[in-house]
Formats: sequence, C-alpha cells, structure tokens
Amino acid sequence: MEDIAGIYLNDRVVAASEARVSVLDHGFLYGDGVYETMRVYSGVVFMMEEHISRLRNSASLIELKLPKSPRQIKLAIFETLEACGHKDAYLRITVSRGEGPIGLDPELCSRPTFLVFADKLKPSPRDYYEKGMALALVNTRRNLREALDPQIKSLNFLNNIMAKIEAKKAGAHEALMLNHAGHLAEGTTSNIFFVAGGALCTPSDACGILRGITRDVVLSIARRLDMKVVEGEFKEEDIFGASEAFITSTIMEVVPVARLIGRTGARDFFHGGGDVTKMFMAEYRKEAASYVENTRAAGPSIWGFTE
Ligand code: PDD
Repeated sequence: MEDIAGIYLNDRVVAASEARVSVLDHGFLYGDGVYETMRVYSGVVFMMEEHISRLRNSASLIELKLPKSPRQIKLAIFETLEACGHKDAYLRITVSRGEGPIGLDPELCSRPTFLVFADKLKPSPRDYYEKGMALALVNTRRNLREALDPQIKSLNFLNNIMAKIEAKKAGAHEALMLNHAGHLAEGTTSNIFFVAGGALCTPSDACGILRGITRDVVLSIARRLDMKVVEGEFKEEDIFGASEAFITSTIMEVVPVARLIGRTGARDFFHGGGDVTKMFMAEYRKEAASYVENTRAAGPSIWGFTE
C-alpha cells in the first residue's frame, strides 16, 4: 500500500511507518469515535470552522471529550498539511475513544486517539460530472435517529456500508436511503437534492440525515439567488417525478444524478445534469474559489494562529 503523505498522530507529525494504533483501540474494536473529512483547495481548508464545529458536536453527542481545543486542532491540521505537501488535498480527522481493555464502558479508555491525515486529492471520475452518477434506491434504511443519530459523524459506518454494497450490486455508484418512515434520507456519503415544481427540494434534518456542509453551502447559494427551497419530508415518487437531481459532498462537491434505479424500474435524468444542477455545480466552485481568496486575504488570523 502507498504511504499517506501527511500523518499527525496524537501530538505530532509522524512517518507513515510510525503511525500505529493499538489493537485495543475502541475505535477499531467498537467503532467508538468520530471523524470529519475536509477538502483543501490551493492550500486552504474549505469551511474549516464548520468542520471543526461539526466534529465537536459529534464528539459531544457521544460524550467524547476532544483531546484538543479548536485552536490546537487547527495547528494539527496545518502541520499535517505541511508534511503532506499537496495544495489540493483531502484531509481527515479521526478521534476514537482510545485504547482500553475489552468492554463497552467509555471510562475504560483514559485518552482518546487523535489522528489527522492528508494526501493528494484524487478527483472523482470526470464522467461523474460530465454524464452524472447512477443512484440506487436501496432496501437498507438509514439509521433511526433514536438509535444512532445520523447527525453524529461516527466511525460506526456499517449502516452506510450495507447500503453501498446494495448499490454496487444494483450497478449504481451511490445508494439513496430512505428512513424508517419511508421518507428520502441521504446517500452513503452524500446528501440528495432534486428539482420539482420549480423548487429545490432536499430532505430536512428531521428525516435523519447528516447535515452536510456542502448541503448548507448549496442551500445558502439557493437562498441568495432567491430560489424556492423546500427542506421537508419526501417520498420516493417525489424524486422519481423530479426534473433534475444531484448529490453533494465535501470531496465530490455537486454531482448530477443521471440515473435513478428504483425497486420497480429506473428513471434517467439529463445527461450531465439539467440547467439548475449545472448552475449549482458552477456556483459551488465559485464559492470555493472566493472562500480561498478571502481566507488568503484575511491572513493568518482567520487560520486561528492569533486567536
Ligand atoms: N461524507 N451524508 C453522509 C452520511 C456523509 O458521510 C457525508 C459526508 C455527507 C455529506 O456531508 P459534507 O457535505 O459535509 O461532506 C452526507 C464524507 C465526505 C466522508 O464520509 O468522508
């Protein structure tokens, strides 16, 4: 396996050969931990504050005390990026409950494991943007909020992995999951949007989704452009009857849905995305570019060094 370019483990940058986590780490044994994935554009971490605050929220929802303050997390991010050396990168922060004897009790672990790694961004296939992705509506339901709230970006990803397995078997790139009530929820690592009746529609928080940071950017672009936005509860028929659909995620940005495979048949959408989708693909990229420019212009204070 290739080495990851930049790795920061617990309190310092380490060589890939030194980056080892205990076999008794509860992240490994029980999926007990949280994470965030960020995208770095020209050396600037897009929406860094928002990702750090979501990490803090996920940690607090599982009663995990982060071993670092937001400022220390930022410093770890910058050290990792420096070691990584790539200006266009993906960066992941993982915090697990830490090493401890067998047993579920979080108090068995005295120190969380804190890991940041970054590597050259591997762009998604061009076909995704030029043609679109195929989505399969799967039988695996999104976790019940009252069981394991999808707002927690946890290391416990089997729900999404089961959905991914189903989607692959159906010949799709990504899954579309319903919640327990049969309402649309989200993909395995993405949020879903569609255009119907002149409105931009997306499942609401109440449907049991991860509130995507890309989703929030898209919603703010839509509101700025005075588009009608509906965050609500939708059925499978709603997306099958939509004129356009797209998915969003930090790494993939905005990707058109070219084909939706359902239980009884498939529906094709515009090749390469309809007008609204194309507009969001372009506006999102502009948003990222201006974020990079503004962050640079504001200088290091916004990067958290002078807080
Ligand atoms: N995935 N829903 C789920 C279940 C996710 O895992 C993700 C993110 C999203 C989109 O969120 P955002 O726009 O903040 O990336 C929605 C990341 C990319 C991952 O798993 O690495």
